[in-house]
Amino acid sequence: MDHAESERITSWFVEYTNRYVISDPANYEAYELKIAHSLRVKENCSAIAASLNLNEEERMIAEVIGLLHDTGRFEQFRRYHTFLDGKSENHAELGAAVLRETGILSDLEGDTQEIILKGVSYHNRLRLPDGELRRVNLFCRLIRDADKIDILGVVTDYYESTKKSDFIELSLPDEPVYSEEILNDLFKNGLVDMTKMKTLNDFKLLQLGWVYDLNFPAAARKIKEKRYLERIRLTLPKSGQIDELLKRLNAHLDELIQRCL
Ligand SMILES: [Fe+2]
Repeated sequence: MDHAESERITSWFVEYTNRYVISDPANYEAYELKIAHSLRVKENCSAIAASLNLNEEERMIAEVIGLLHDTGRFEQFRRYHTFLDGKSENHAELGAAVLRETGILSDLEGDTQEIILKGVSYHNRLRLPDGELRRVNLFCRLIRDADKIDILGVVTDYYESTKKSDFIELSLPDEPVYSEEILNDLFKNGLVDMTKMKTLNDFKLLQLGWVYDLNFPAAARKIKEKRYLERIRLTLPKSGQIDELLKRLNAHLDELIQRCL
């Protein structure tokens, strides 16, 4: 991929997403939310790529994956009026299908196309599939970190505000309780089954647990610097168990930063 190709894809994304804003003005906020998210994730990808000393072409590939990772959100919202994959369809697979159908990547080299399509398809999976090439894995891990950093920032600001948005709360009830089951999953292996979520607090705990799925020190450093974990914790009920969870999550972040020094 060269600069001209990266610019062509960026222009396509701007034009493609604008079409949704224009044709469905009543829901422009939903589309704008995803456009702004995509642009920030692109920047996060760029920063992580730089921290890993990737070369210029690799940095551009990472940025393109960041920009395109939520391509499916636009068609998902237009068709189903929700961002809930469970109530519609998998937005990552949908995005990869849109990219294939439009042929926007078809001028790129075969392995670059594969990396971008897999980065988009796998970005929301609970776990990355085994057996992928090292290079594919690198970019998949990169987009997953870049995406999580931005979502943690968005939800932290949101939980601290008095705003209400169904897009962010996934229509979960905001009650002053949380599920022991979710907390136990986090203490056991860090992975939480989304279907177990009953309240908004459960969703906050699940989001805190994303820390266990981070791959790169640059992402861990950013989360510490912005104090996302502590700030989300302040919006949860008082609980010794949650305090203990926070300690473990912070220790995990420190270990990730140290491991790669
Ligand atoms: Fe996504």
